[in-house]
Amino acid sequence: MQWKIKEETRMKTKMKKWWHDKVAYQIYPKSFYDTNGDGIGDIQGIISKLDYLKELGIDLIWISPIYKSPFVDQGYDISDYYGIAPEFGTMEEFEELLAEAKKRDIYIVMDLVINHCSDQHEWFQKALADPEGEYADYFYFREGKNGGLPSNYRSYFGGSCWEPVPGTNKYYFHAFAKEQPDLNWENPKLRQEIYDMINWWMEKGVAGFRIDAIINIKKDVNFPDLEPDGPDGLAGYSRAVEQTHGVGELLEDLKNNTFAKYDAFTVGEVFNMHEEELPEFIGEDGHFSTIFDFSAHCLSDGEHGWYDAPGIDFNQWRKAIVNSQLEVQKVGYKANIIENHDEPRGVSRFLPEYARNAAGTKMLGTISLLLRGIPFLYQGQEIGMQNCVWNSSEEWDDISSKDQYQTARAAGVPKEEALRICAEMSRDNARTPMQWSGEKGAGFTQGTPWMKVNPNYSQINVKDQQMDEDSVLHYYQKLIALRKSKELKEVFTYGRFAPVYGEWDNIMAFYRILDEEAGQEVGNAGKRVLIAANFGKDSVELPLEYQGKKVLLSNLPENQAEDNLTLAGCGVMVLECALHE
Ligand code: GLC
Ligand code: CA
Repeated sequence: MQWKIKEETRMKTKMKKWWHDKVAYQIYPKSFYDTNGDGIGDIQGIISKLDYLKELGIDLIWISPIYKSPFVDQGYDISDYYGIAPEFGTMEEFEELLAEAKKRDIYIVMDLVINHCSDQHEWFQKALADPEGEYADYFYFREGKNGGLPSNYRSYFGGSCWEPVPGTNKYYFHAFAKEQPDLNWENPKLRQEIYDMINWWMEKGVAGFRIDAIINIKKDVNFPDLEPDGPDGLAGYSRAVEQTHGVGELLEDLKNNTFAKYDAFTVGEVFNMHEEELPEFIGEDGHFSTIFDFSAHCLSDGEHGWYDAPGIDFNQWRKAIVNSQLEVQKVGYKANIIENHDEPRGVSRFLPEYARNAAGTKMLGTISLLLRGIPFLYQGQEIGMQNCVWNSSEEWDDISSKDQYQTARAAGVPKEEALRICAEMSRDNARTPMQWSGEKGAGFTQGTPWMKVNPNYSQINVKDQQMDEDSVLHYYQKLIALRKSKELKEVFTYGRFAPVYGEWDNIMAFYRILDEEAGQEVGNAGKRVLIAANFGKDSVELPLEYQGKKVLLSNLPENQAEDNLTLAGCGVMVLECALHE
């Protein structure tokens, strides 16, 4: 297809923000690096790998939750917002991490889980102890309707959103697991508690937050029943979210009482946003600095769950990314990811089977990191970690994988098939320990790892790749260095995105362009860079629209730029071109 681009789709680049040019890295602490042999990654583990991350070119680290938690949902169920989970270390160690990161000019961003807390949190315990008292109003306690539940919503992790409050005729609401009661954002007292907590962490020196599941904080407090959409007679809670309006007011209140005062960086995890609200979310003075771009990931949303999820088709993938880029650049910046702790590994998901190798991995990384937006790498992505082999559903820890497996079975999917499907989609694919070396335990721990290590650690690991100039790891280093280089930083940060070669099969290609006017706005001359990838098996020759000036990066020696651009199968090239024809 031919991409249609209107010139007026470019936003003005005048308002520079401190975080625009940062390259971020997500750490899933439990699986990053264990220093005391208990099989669980820890804060000291993060500290000891800061130099590794610095060398990779990372400016900002988002750490998945390290607060006190019963770990029903791996730390996304917080029982004390002011405490560090002893599994990870102490507050002193966290402060040491902040200081060590600062020495290396690395910003630390915490995970902020404020749609819900843990059922072990003091507030919930007090609410249960006195269901008519003030803490009950920190949550949604509701009486049932017509002898049944207050509404027919299905929680994200399966089953009803309502759980009985013992000793009463009431139920409490949970969008996720029953151990994760939702907080009542209509209550100003609750909001103030959250704001105080956020400001406390800001004062400590964190640079901002990744904000979990935030769209869910706005409820239609009448909880109207919805049309059932599954054999359980329930309706997915996300459908209720889609129909709810007014989250913006809550988000503005949140921002103005916290982040705005500190010029914090915030990245929202936002699904089911009303598309027309994008400017309110991430425009100049939006609710957040940025939100993640999940447009490619949502392509595999099943109607009823993982079992009826469609596979990823190249053309749809390309279209999803291109359309998203074109929309977003009118407004602001999104955070680009290939994977995170909730998604399968991108190499196993977005690449055809023949491309799940070093060349293909480099190709996918190049596209993701040079799109317009803030790149977020997920631990292990820089060495091309892949999905794990799962032999049984018993091997999963993840609450969602277990539920999806049951859902598939209940829908009549045979065992083998349910296992195969859920193995592909399982969140645990991203949560297996980081592969530091080919030694036992993948160099992640001296003890017994809390979670299965991907058996391919002897082929894919940091240590081997550090010794191989041609490795995925070295390529990522070069790629990030290129993105941040003095000559190209402006075009990769502020340059407009313009897709090209859309009518070619298997080609994902785009320009990043800083035209003269935009160049002047950021104190730079104009530039045009072509990023072109061939997701096909066979070599392709593309006619160059603009004269090639300099090959900036290429993943295969067979790639050539002369009058035409030759890309080998799984080839990607970053080519500086003449600005004009
Ligand atoms: C977000 C997190 C996910 C968690 C959920 C509930 O989606 O990324 O890991 O399970 O929120 O907190
Ligand atoms: Ca440990």
